[in-house]
Amino acid sequence: MINIMRNALILLVVMSLLLSCEQKNSVKHFSSNAEVERKLDSLLSLMTLEEKIGQTVLFSSHSTVTGPVMNHNYITYLKQGQVGAIFNATNADFIRKLQKIAVEETRLGIPLLFGYDVIHGYKTIFPIPLAESCSWDLKLLEKTAKVASKEASSIGLNWTFAPMIDVSRDPRWGRVAEGNGEDTYLASKITTARVKGIQGDDLADPQTLLSCAKHFAAYGAPQAGRDYHTVDMSEITLRNVYLPPFKSAVQAGAATFMTAFNELNGVPATANPFLLDQILRKEWGFDGFVVTDYTSVNEMIHHGNVNTLQEAGEEAIKSGVDMDMQGGVFRKFLAKSVKSGKVDESRITKAARSVLRMKYLLGLFDDPYRYLDAQNASDVLLHPSHLELARTSAAKSMVLLKNKQNILPLRSSQKVALIGPLADDEYHILGNWIGQGDRSGTAVSVKEGFEARGAHFSYAKGCEIEANNKEGFEKALQVAKNADVIVLVAGETERMSGEAASRTSISLPDIQKELIAALNETGKPIVLVLFNGRPLDLSWESTISDAILETWFSGTAGGHAITDVLYGDVNPSGKLTMSFPRNVGQIPVFYNEKHTGRPHDIPEANERYTSKFIDVPNSPLYPFGFGLSYTTFDYKNVTLSSDTLTTQNPITVSVEVTNSGNFDGEEIVQLYIKDKVASITRPVKELKGFEKVFLKKGEMQRVSFELTVEDLMFYNSNLEWVAEPGVFELMIAPNSDHPFTHFFKFKI
Ligand code: NOJ
Repeated sequence: MINIMRNALILLVVMSLLLSCEQKNSVKHFSSNAEVERKLDSLLSLMTLEEKIGQTVLFSSHSTVTGPVMNHNYITYLKQGQVGAIFNATNADFIRKLQKIAVEETRLGIPLLFGYDVIHGYKTIFPIPLAESCSWDLKLLEKTAKVASKEASSIGLNWTFAPMIDVSRDPRWGRVAEGNGEDTYLASKITTARVKGIQGDDLADPQTLLSCAKHFAAYGAPQAGRDYHTVDMSEITLRNVYLPPFKSAVQAGAATFMTAFNELNGVPATANPFLLDQILRKEWGFDGFVVTDYTSVNEMIHHGNVNTLQEAGEEAIKSGVDMDMQGGVFRKFLAKSVKSGKVDESRITKAARSVLRMKYLLGLFDDPYRYLDAQNASDVLLHPSHLELARTSAAKSMVLLKNKQNILPLRSSQKVALIGPLADDEYHILGNWIGQGDRSGTAVSVKEGFEARGAHFSYAKGCEIEANNKEGFEKALQVAKNADVIVLVAGETERMSGEAASRTSISLPDIQKELIAALNETGKPIVLVLFNGRPLDLSWESTISDAILETWFSGTAGGHAITDVLYGDVNPSGKLTMSFPRNVGQIPVFYNEKHTGRPHDIPEANERYTSKFIDVPNSPLYPFGFGLSYTTFDYKNVTLSSDTLTTQNPITVSVEVTNSGNFDGEEIVQLYIKDKVASITRPVKELKGFEKVFLKKGEMQRVSFELTVEDLMFYNSNLEWVAEPGVFELMIAPNSDHPFTHFFKFKI
């Protein structure tokens, strides 16, 4: 009896916890503007079924294809009022022309939406999203998203297919380049910053875009890291690991969502009522609109859960999709589906309404050309302040992985041998998905960065990125022999990561390894500067180089930013948001794994029969949260405001961080906890807070975090969002690979 009462009490408290969290995280409702809703009623009452379906149709105007080539006669359809939105149009005059057709030549004159993949910049290209996530600098991420939107909107775009917020623990998957790494907590914070940056506070502000949270959901967990592959996972993992960034997107006010290509537990995400209706709409209260990914309605035929395209369209619209990207299925079949009674017209009306609502909120019905301002475009694109921001964000995104005997920063008196297939590169440095970024030589290469600062250096290419030709080795060796230090710029092509770029090897191409080995023979110190879109296997390189600077694909101003860091004008402060494995066999390797029943690192373990590899350690080569600085930081005196956290009483945890080295610098202070015993097994550690602080050399600052009950919550085996009483371990550390030092209790 006492137990029953106790359980009932716990349930009550848990439910009230749940409620209070939900209230705190109230969602923006786009449908709350009564005047807009009245206008929608009146417009929809005038529309034919075909015109309503037209609002659910999105076509690409150009050949930028990321799937099957579909030559739709979209201009004809547009004139017939059968197109609601266009993507890939990136020329202001062309956008004006299309808008004019929509407004002047269709029966109802409904303006179009114009979408585009503005992923890390429009003309000014910022570092790839994975790189930027390593800055852990939310204000900076918000700012770069804002600038990208400002540039894109200046030529008439009003919708971006960003942010991409798929958590991923698999560096074989090329699209990790577009995301924020392996951690749910950090990815959720970044999502909020990016949605805010893209959309601003007012959708009608013509310098902002509609955002699109993608790809919903679990696209980052394909089997074997192979793009578009099957996703099969428990609902607990889905809810605890993969969905939270999407929930943050809804809470931050993301106007649109994009479905994912993958199937999830047997049901394609593009026609998945559990994801789109149950979770997104009913549980989270999203009332923006949902667009599919590129031809993913059509792809249900290949998934094998429908017989015909018409059926595919029916499944998709009924499950909650509002707009069909590029496949033309809705345009072609939905009217038939309504007429045959397979789809209720009210569902079409609802989809059209949610698209039209965005057009009203953007102000397109007041002025369909309001985003088109030629003067604004020429003032805005590549504005010097944007280039400066690109330089700052690139430098802040870099991660210093090794720095033996403080070989970096370079001193201006040193003679540098600048070598490598990417040292004079202005093409790959921009990375993948570069909007209207210019690959023809306008980005700053590392060599140009060296030249601009008048550095003392000689250059030799050495080899190509992949081609197996050693002709350039000899010159590279000569240059190296005459120098004090080698700066070797190596890495991947931009095509080796991104969409449809999964790899089973994540090592540097063989020819580059051979070049490194040859240069190593000279006995000169090697500083390895890396360009890449994913964590690489650097096990060998990490033994042979003296320093490793991970610069990712750093964007338009990359070369300046890289030399800023190499010469110490900027002290590196980035920290990894994805673990670097020792080899591909370890994948997935991520910091917040589970303990298992036979952990290898407990005193009573029988060494042989534990959960481990017998050829490499369990730990990654470089862990989540790791990154060096030119200075050192000491962590001391962790204090907790109380040893007990309750619903009403959060606790404050703080630490003294001192810059104990010789350079001013920024440090990313990280807080991790572990739920020791719970009703289901919990991760070995979880990030629950971080602060980026700037400290002058010798300076000390107490850094504080507040831990609330919300930080302890998770989905249990009944899929309830709960915080369970018990003991939690805690640490504040410079990266995830540190032991717990403190603990606190959570009491209900
Ligand atoms: C396919 C990609 O998966 C998606 O991220 C992108 O937005 C669309 N193509 C449109 O280009």
